[in-house]
Amino acid sequence: MSDAIGVFDSGVGGLTVLKEISRLLPREDTIYLGDTARVPYGTRSAVTIRKYALQTAGFLVSKGVKMLVVACNTSAAVALPTLRRSFPGLPVLGVTEPGAKAAAAATTGGRVGVIGTEGTIRSGAYEKAILRFRPGTRIVARACPLFVSLAEEGWVEGKVAHLVAAEYLEPLRAGGIDTLVLGCTHYPLLKGTIRKVMGPRVRLIDSAEETARAVREMLERTGLGTTSRRPSRHRFFVTDLPAKFKVLGRRFLDAPIGRAYQVDM
Ligand code: DGL
Repeated sequence: MSDAIGVFDSGVGGLTVLKEISRLLPREDTIYLGDTARVPYGTRSAVTIRKYALQTAGFLVSKGVKMLVVACNTSAAVALPTLRRSFPGLPVLGVTEPGAKAAAAATTGGRVGVIGTEGTIRSGAYEKAILRFRPGTRIVARACPLFVSLAEEGWVEGKVAHLVAAEYLEPLRAGGIDTLVLGCTHYPLLKGTIRKVMGPRVRLIDSAEETARAVREMLERTGLGTTSRRPSRHRFFVTDLPAKFKVLGRRFLDAPIGRAYQVDM
């Protein structure tokens, strides 16, 4: 077994989760796989998402990772039970549960909004998890597919981003939510615009930050935290050519990506 944490996503988005993990756990090695040849997952059927998630996770498992983080909200929402069944004995953590738990704890009036890809919203995974942590919560959920393109294009502020956000978020504003879960890897980049539209009284729950905290807890609970004292190593794999991933990824990770290797699944 390697000492690394495996992190996978449909593409570059999961780097927002990796960024939080390496910020909170600077000594941990990581291996990241972005399935850039088949992104996006969010618009696909549950059957396809499960198939893709199993293959991407399988690659990291073949590298001997000590734990698996499903950074892609769509994969976590749709495929988490399948992944846990397929890799028994391996700790598998998805982004949905930590985000749902934090939202359930944060809401003051019991009205929570959830935004994510079509696949994530259709699965109802966030609603189910929030209701488990806080029964009786009123939930308004909405798919915001264009946010993914805006984040990748770098249009995270300004007129266009604001217009799109105002349109998508209107039902959540009308629903009087006090807490909003950013249930997609790309949405932390749009936090400023989303905050402007929702107003300062709505708590924004960043599932990337919550997941990093959950990873730390899981490492403590399982005794799998690294004991290494050397600087941590971060390795990157992608399924399409690495060039675009490296350019885009720099913004999502907030740090340069040294080398990324292309793999075929
Ligand atoms: N990473 C995906 C998620 O968090 C967004 C991009 C996609 O649709 O694949 O749901």
